[in-house]
Amino acid sequence: MTSRKPLIVANWKMNTTPSEGKELAQSIADNIIEPTDVLDVVVCPPFTGITTVRSALSGTKITVGAQTASTATNTALTGEISVQMLRNIVTHVIIGHSERRTIFGESNKSIAAKAAAIGKAGLTPILCVGESIDQRKAGHSAKEVANQLRSSLDSFEYWRNLVVAYEPLWAIGTGTASSPLDAQNIASSIREELRNIAGKTESTKINILYGGSVNSNNIGNFMKQNDVDGTLVGSASLDPLEFVKIVTVAARYS
Ligand code: PGA
Repeated sequence: MTSRKPLIVANWKMNTTPSEGKELAQSIADNIIEPTDVLDVVVCPPFTGITTVRSALSGTKITVGAQTASTATNTALTGEISVQMLRNIVTHVIIGHSERRTIFGESNKSIAAKAAAIGKAGLTPILCVGESIDQRKAGHSAKEVANQLRSSLDSFEYWRNLVVAYEPLWAIGTGTASSPLDAQNIASSIREELRNIAGKTESTKINILYGGSVNSNNIGNFMKQNDVDGTLVGSASLDPLEFVKIVTVAARYS
């Protein structure tokens, strides 16, 4: 149970064409009990679906996010989408997802630049941090997460606009979620680290999410934890009724 307003984020990754995204968003909008002042919901489709998903969700309080962004602006970088381009069409941007760190080689340094640019643009970065299975086995989870957090927030100063998502690599897309207690322990160490970086007042206001194989059966146990303020959902967010169920269960703990 959290004193902060919980946040549920859907990460659709590379799934859905613009019309499929519209249909999925419409189905979520039709079935969701409108998130009220007690809970925020953000849906992150691929870039190509942002416009159709936004129109399907207009009239609801669900907002739309992006899955990454480039810090470059108006320059020769074929294929990139900048923070500026996203400015008036999304509320949140996921950064540092482990798939981008491992597959695209994104460093803490480049993630720090993204966090700063996104915050400066008035958007909310959802900063993902998490340890590998080897780091976990070696008992280094909290240390690795703290390192990522510190380096990725190096030049950050927009504390009112920050969400941190703890996503252990071994739990993403595997069907094996972290235990709620382990998630709480890492979330609490993240809050402690945020306290060092951002100060006590700000650190108590920042939403810390857990992500990795979350579904409607296990979300309740995560939401019971003091420092877990919501979730970042991958696979389960592609089934509209399952996603709505996750939001409904989470709302009970807000
Ligand atoms: P998952 O993905 O819910 O499918 O484990 C989570 C994520 O990658 O954000």
